[in-house]
Order: sequence, then C-alpha cells, then structure tokens
Amino acid sequence: MKKIIALMLSFSLLSSVAIAEEEAASVKEARNALKFRQSLFQLIRSNMGDLGAMAKGVKPFDAAVMEKNGMRLEQLSLMIADYLATDTREHKLETDALDKIWEEPDNFNEKIQALTTAAQRLQAVAKAGDESQFRSAIGGVGKSCKGCHDVFKAE
Ligand code: HEC
Repeated sequence: MKKIIALMLSFSLLSSVAIAEEEAASVKEARNALKFRQSLFQLIRSNMGDLGAMAKGVKPFDAAVMEKNGMRLEQLSLMIADYLATDTREHKLETDALDKIWEEPDNFNEKIQALTTAAQRLQAVAKAGDESQFRSAIGGVGKSCKGCHDVFKAE
C-alpha cells in the first residue's frame, strides 16, 4: 500500500512539472519570464556601477565594496541559467535576448561561467588587498558582461 501511495505521489509530481512547463509556453508566462530576467540583469548592473567608477578612477578603490559586490555578482550569475531557462522565442516580446540563447545552451553556459569566475576572482583580489590587481579584476568582470552581450544580446 505504501508503495502504491509513493507511486501515486511521484506520478502527481511528474504531471505538475509537465503542467508548469506548458504554462511557461503561454504569452503570460513569456512576459513574466522577460520581466524577471531583465530585473536580474538590472540587479547585476546595479552592482557594477561603483566598480566601474573605481576602475575609471572616478571613485577611490574600496576593497570592502569590491568584495561585497563581487559576492553579489557571483550569486546573481548563478541565477542567469534559471531565469533564462524559459524559451520565449515563439512570443513577440520587447527583448534584446537573441534566439541563440536557446539554440546554443553550452556556449551560453560558458558565458555565464565567465562571469561567475570573474566575480570570484574579484572577491579573492579584494580580500588579498593587493591594489595593483584591483583594476584588472574589475575589468575582468566587465569583459565577461561584454563577452556574453556580443553573442547573445541585441545591440
Ligand atoms: C551569460 C550572458 C550574459 C552575461 C554574463 C551578462 N549579460 Fe547582461 N544581458 C544578457 C541578455 C541576454 C540580455 C537581454 C535580456 C532581455 O532583454 O530579455 C541582457 C541585458 C542586460 C541589461 C538590460 C536589462 C533590461 O532591463 O533590459 C543590462 C543593464 C545588462 N544586461 C547588464 C549586464 C552587466 C553589467 C553584466 C556583467 C556584470 C551582464 N549584463 C552580464 C546576457 C548577459
């Protein structure tokens, strides 16, 4: 009896996953996915502002901010795959996301990894406190943004 209940449970779990996927294919789900992924990138951007100003010499280097923002960027980078998992190609949306994202997932994941790695390096460099490495560590993060945008984002 227990086995049967467990089986029934696993079947109902399976079917709820399938339903969720179907909903993701509706216009409403596509619009939500767009809103969420653009919000994620806005949060990513908000953590780059100070870092960019430091790299340009507009603001003095602040290792504590570099470490904190590096940690946030690492965490946010780990969300990109999930928030871009919903394939919205079939819907008319105001998006800069190129179809390639869903056509070349391995390549896209490599670009995500580049940001994760650069954000980790930024934290390590900030922790070590070697100011001669600060600019290049921030530059590395910026390069990883561009590396993905050049291939997977319009404009
Ligand atoms: C793995 C790929 C990838 C990486 C890495 C990446 N982006 Fe993006 N970014 C995108 C895509 C794709 C879009 C388009 C999203 C859309 O319009 O649906 C985007 C959009 C944006 C937007 C516009 C969001 C909006 O409201 O329309 C900003 C700002 C942005 N990215 C900043 C950054 C910054 C800063 C970094 C680096 C710290 C970064 N991105 C790293 C892929 C990436």
